[in-house]
Amino acid sequence: MTETRFQTIAVLGAGTMGAGIAHVCAQAGSSVMLQDVADEFVQKGLGRVRDFLQKGVEKGKVTAQQRDEVLARIKTTTDRIGACRTAGLVIEAVPEKLELKNDLFREIGAVVAPTCVLASNTSSLSLGKVFAGVAGPERCIGMHFFNPVPLMALLELVRTAATSQATIDAAIAFGKRLGKEPIVVKDSPGFASSRLGVCLGLEAIRMFESGVASAEDIDKAMVLGYGHPMGPLKLTDLVGLDVRLAIADYLAVELDHPGFKAPVLMRKMVAEGKLGKKTGQGFYRW
Ligand code: CAA
Repeated sequence: MTETRFQTIAVLGAGTMGAGIAHVCAQAGSSVMLQDVADEFVQKGLGRVRDFLQKGVEKGKVTAQQRDEVLARIKTTTDRIGACRTAGLVIEAVPEKLELKNDLFREIGAVVAPTCVLASNTSSLSLGKVFAGVAGPERCIGMHFFNPVPLMALLELVRTAATSQATIDAAIAFGKRLGKEPIVVKDSPGFASSRLGVCLGLEAIRMFESGVASAEDIDKAMVLGYGHPMGPLKLTDLVGLDVRLAIADYLAVELDHPGFKAPVLMRKMVAEGKLGKKTGQGFYRW
């Protein structure tokens, strides 16, 4: 198996992550089919890519020609099966719901070429369960990208008990072609990144909740004291409180660890629609 087959890629789900993934794949020269269930979602995703590239042009990081070439390599559709039929790689970035992802891969696995690699961008769910019953488990792998995808250097590759070494090697080569630094992690709850990152974020919320310091000062403690590029509360706003709450609830059960018990304040904020940057209000006003 070689990475050259990843010239044609289907990205399923055109939200923040799906759009970012489509962007970096197209930027690395692949033809991308970006799919979501409704045209308004795919157009919004494509709009995100366009805006990011335009900002890149304004910053002098990307030329107008590169912007146009990247955009020309991304096609959009609402037809999931059609998007995957000729793909050498399918990357799924739909909402973090196990059943949704498993149903998707069972359906897609039956129609794609036997050599097509199937990748999930899940940030914490068990890949063994995401790919349960999918045809060709050896070509299934976790490909966990980070937000904002075009700027973050890490690609966390997650191997299940069934993932072949050929699939891992092709994914590593692909990650390098995208300009990312791949790491390979065993399929375990929260992998390497979310397990540590979410734990830190939850503790920061508990500290804010109990009045240890203001949100700004808790974040400064990590930015200035530990050299993090962004504090844990601001990062929670960026990722989305709803997204992080779902991961916390899942990890609390899977790891049976009190550190992952979601703070009351977090649940309250999610119930009130204070989801962070995407709704304009989280620990900060955006
Ligand atoms: N196009 C091209 N380049 C761009 C750009 C654009 N539209 N926007 C910014 N850049 C470049 C900048 O020019 C700059 O480049 P140089 O370093 O060469 O100067 C670089 O990207 C950084 O940009 P900024 O200076 O504007 O911004 P920053 O320094 O404040 O960094 C950040 C922004 C990269 C987001 C940084 O704050 C950061 O790393 N934050 C943490 C993000 C993080 O932790 N993400 C993971 C979230 S968890 C997750 O995603 C997983 C999950 O499963 C939920």
